[in-house]
Amino acid sequence: MIRTKVLGLGSYVPDRVVTNEEIAFLNDQHVRQATQVTETNDQWIQQRTGIKERRYVPNDGATWTSDLALEASKRAIADAGLQPTDIDCIILGTLSPDFHFPGTAVVVQKKLGIADKTSCACFDIRQQCSAFVYGMQMADAFIRCGTYKRILLIGAELHSHALDYSTRGRDVMVLFGDGAGAMVLGPMETDDPKQGVVYTAAHADGNGAMDLCLKIFEIARLPYLDYDPRDREQNALMYPKMDGKRVFLNAVRGMVMSTQAALAKTGMSWDDIQWFVPHQANLRINEKVVEVAKIPPEKVLNTIEFYGNTTAATVPLTIDYWRQQGKVKKGDRVLSSVFGSGFTWGAAIFTV
Ligand code: UT7
Repeated sequence: MIRTKVLGLGSYVPDRVVTNEEIAFLNDQHVRQATQVTETNDQWIQQRTGIKERRYVPNDGATWTSDLALEASKRAIADAGLQPTDIDCIILGTLSPDFHFPGTAVVVQKKLGIADKTSCACFDIRQQCSAFVYGMQMADAFIRCGTYKRILLIGAELHSHALDYSTRGRDVMVLFGDGAGAMVLGPMETDDPKQGVVYTAAHADGNGAMDLCLKIFEIARLPYLDYDPRDREQNALMYPKMDGKRVFLNAVRGMVMSTQAALAKTGMSWDDIQWFVPHQANLRINEKVVEVAKIPPEKVLNTIEFYGNTTAATVPLTIDYWRQQGKVKKGDRVLSSVFGSGFTWGAAIFTV
């Protein structure tokens, strides 16, 4: 029987570290000011979120989301022992695409140097923090059906350019960082249902759509974009808006339910799973999920403390980080549960 195997893994974060202390002094250009710009502080951020620092791209206007995706992709393809020309499908999850259209997957395809060589299929998916699980479900279906044989699944985000560096935007601004993670998936012949991608489930509840959103424009209006982006009285639409408490409660509920369902539906227990890799939105969310779902704490992997929330990238980035630290080993089985804007949520079990 054909099942899906993780063939390679890679990640990338930019070099610039922005601490909680520094972020309070940054202006829109990411330049440290002499006086504090945003009323926030290290103690508040750490207590409420667990975040100590995050990574930002250079502020020279030369880095795109596709560049972060490209670096992670090159590493994942090399890790799989493949060449970029072996890839026959790209699935890219991002909420911070290079531009409104075309999607960013085609830009990555071009930057990989395979656009004219393979003309491979390119998908952008828009499931925000749940994109990696949604993308893995798509990839798994494509591979089992024989549609594609070497799928590059990427989560990449350049958040730092679209945050509100002011007290107005502080609830969201302090949470997010830049980064990317990628996986290469392909077929394997096995009758062992516990190998490769064992399980994926994806869910959504559109009632939560406006509880965490970044509009930028409203297409129903004429003109569809009608504000001065430099005028703080008018430009709120340019920045993410969140009802933090509603998102927090729904995130705990969605991740607990999907974690429990993943185990129940596969007949697995924590004895079968080496690592729990939750989406990295807030350390307090993850601690609550671990407590309520009774997950062995020693199996939990986080990176939120030093990477912040990198949305679609958090799952592969966290697995790859802990693999580089020597914790995650080849063949380990991971249960990942995610929750994000939409609302969207889900879970996956797979061996790495
Ligand atoms: O990736 C998936 C999406 N994101 C999430 O899952 C995030 C979910 N939500 C959260 O993580 C939390 O709701 C937050 C960390 C965003 C906020 O924590 P909270 O405990 O829900 O705080 P709050 O929004 O109730 O705000 C408490 C106070 C408010 O002040 P007042 O009204 O009590 O005077 C806020 O204005 O904290 C204030 N506040 C801040 N203070 C310092 C909000 N953000 C900040 C900040 N620094 N950065």
